[in-house]
This record gives sequence, C-alpha cells and structure tokens, in this order.
Amino acid sequence: MRLGVLTGGGDCPGLNAAIRAVVAGASQKGYEVLGIRKGWEGLLTRDAVPLTWEDVEGIASIGGTLISTSRTNPARSPEATSTALENAERLGLGALVAIGGDDTLGAASHLQDRGLRCIGIPKTIDNDVGATDATIGFDTAVNVAMAAIDRLHTTARSHERAVLVEVMGRDAGWVALHAGVGAGAHMILIPEVEVNTESMAHYLVNRKRQGYTYAIIVVAEGVKRDGHQGLPDDKTVDEFGHPLLGGVTRIIADEMERISGIQTRYTILGYIQRGGTPTLFDRFLASRYGLAAVELASQGMFGHMVALRGRDIVSVPLADAVSKPRLVPRELYEGLSPLWLPDGTPLGPIPPGTPREWLPGPHPI
Ligand code: F6P
Repeated sequence: MRLGVLTGGGDCPGLNAAIRAVVAGASQKGYEVLGIRKGWEGLLTRDAVPLTWEDVEGIASIGGTLISTSRTNPARSPEATSTALENAERLGLGALVAIGGDDTLGAASHLQDRGLRCIGIPKTIDNDVGATDATIGFDTAVNVAMAAIDRLHTTARSHERAVLVEVMGRDAGWVALHAGVGAGAHMILIPEVEVNTESMAHYLVNRKRQGYTYAIIVVAEGVKRDGHQGLPDDKTVDEFGHPLLGGVTRIIADEMERISGIQTRYTILGYIQRGGTPTLFDRFLASRYGLAAVELASQGMFGHMVALRGRDIVSVPLADAVSKPRLVPRELYEGLSPLWLPDGTPLGPIPPGTPREWLPGPHPI
C-alpha cells in the first residue's frame, strides 16, 4: 500500500515526531509513504515527496513540520473536492493520514465520505479536538506560555501595574487555563465565558484596594467581551471561515486602564507558543499516534482518528471527532477560580468606602 501523510492547519511542535512514526510504522509493514506538501494544498496541486526512514530519522526533536502546512480547504467547493479525489488516485494513495485540528480532520471526514480512505491524527495547540483527551502540540505550547507568564510577575510587580498576556485559543481556553493556573495568574479569561471590560477594570481596583500591588491577567485570544470576539473592524476570515483573532488584548488593556486609572500593559505571546522544540510528552504522544494510525490503516479502519483516552490510544470515528469541539467545562473553570480570586475579590461593582484614589477614572495612581 502507498500511504499519504499530510499536516494541515496551524503548525505545532510534535508534528515531525508523528510523521517519523508514520514512516517507521509503514516501513515495518512494507508500505510506501508519500508526504503531501503544504496540507491539503499539496493534494490539490499534486505536490508530494516520497518519505523514507533516511528522510525522517532524527526529526522528532525538531518543531514545525518537514512537509509544510497550510489552511487550504479541499471542501471549499465541489471542484476542489473532485480535484483532491482525482489527485489522490493519480498519486496512487491507498489511504491518507491527515494530521490536523478540527478543520483538517473535518476535510478528511468530507473526503472519506466521498471515497478517499482517510485516517486522522489530532494535533493543535488549542487542544480542542473532540473525542480525544490530548492533541499533539498542546503540552509544549502551555509550557512555553507558562514560562513566559512566570517572567511577567517580576516586571509587573516592580512597576506595580497590571499586565495582560494574550495566549492562543480561538474557541477553547485550554492554553489560557493551564498556563495561567501553572503560572499563578490573578485572572484568566477564556472564550467559553464572556466578560465585561468594565467589571474587569473594577476587579483591578478592588484588587488594589485589598493591598495587592500588581496583577497578571491571562487572556485567550478568542475571549468574548462585551458581546464581541476578535478585532472589532477586521472582517478577514481564512478558508475555513475563521476570523483572525490575535491582538484583541490591546483593546481590552486600553479600556481597563481608561476605566480603572490603573496603569495596564499587555503582551501577546503569539507564534512563540507554536514554535520550537516539542516536550517529551508531545514527542511520545505523537510517536504513539503515528504508529497507531498506520495500524488502523492496516486493519482497514478508514474514517477513524486515533485518540487518547486516559492513558490508552483508541480509535474513534472521524465524524465524532469533528462533530463538536472539546471546550473548557464551566464547572472546571469556576472550580479553579479560587486560585485567582482567593479573597473573593469581586469583579464589580466597587464597594462603598473605597478611597478616592482607587475610584475608576483617568487619574494616575
Ligand atoms: O492552530 C490553532 C491556532 O494556533 C489558534 O490558536 C490560532 O487562532 C490560529 O491557529 C492562528 O492561525 P494562523 O497560523 O493562521 O495565524
């Protein structure tokens, strides 16, 4: 059999370990592997390279993806879908291993329904693919984000100011929650729980009133505040219809400073979270996933995705994996909130008796 392998969507650390494991598993079974370059784009343009053990040996420790990636969507039109199916046939693919998040796996499920035999491997730093406990890349991203947030404490404390730090997470707040809890943030904002900028500003005032001199607030880029998500005037969307989100924290920080009068700075971690060396957890998970995906192909379990359940690798129908994202449950978020509201610091309104200098307003403090 000739197996295709591709990586689609945002890159993340651990993809190379998965590609390497697919090649290792395939060569043990006597299968050939063809790397489809730049995600689904490579299938639309027949941009493919043979992959042998020599090509992938030693790449498990390297971030990014050897075969590149893109956000091309083969399901964007009936023509694109037919081109993808025709090219898969011309390339002689017996099956295709698609390594991706909900968009890439959704496209795999779409092509599977139209005759291309697909196996999925879940990856995304957002960790929001349904039907699996873990995606490749999340562990590295949260460790990078946590280490960065750790560093913000000293500078925020020295200047007695609030610092907002934006992490990735379009629909799910897993990165914000894990990195924020790990780094002892004073507040964590996630897309699943809408916030009101004014009560966030009041939170700063209330916190200061209790004698705390600084605050670190972790913001997931997809946070919904005052009824909006993302940058107010940006209508740009990718091929899967997702708006570009990064940067909203500047608006939130400016607004919080204006209302509270407390000096508020922000920093955006952005692509630093997706780059660099994968952690052991991601390398190990990716290696298990890669081998398990080849095993599924050999058993004819097409239309399935490998998944982690507890400590076990299992297989789940692709359709189930993409039917709904894995979001942060409200009970988990609220259950952790004593970590950032230890004294019950209210989010608002400001209690009576607050000294004049702590009252909201554009005065320096
Ligand atoms: O892959 C997921 C993700 O990292 C999201 O958290 C983020 O919104 C998006 O990718 C950014 O994507 P791009 O690389 O297209 O800017």
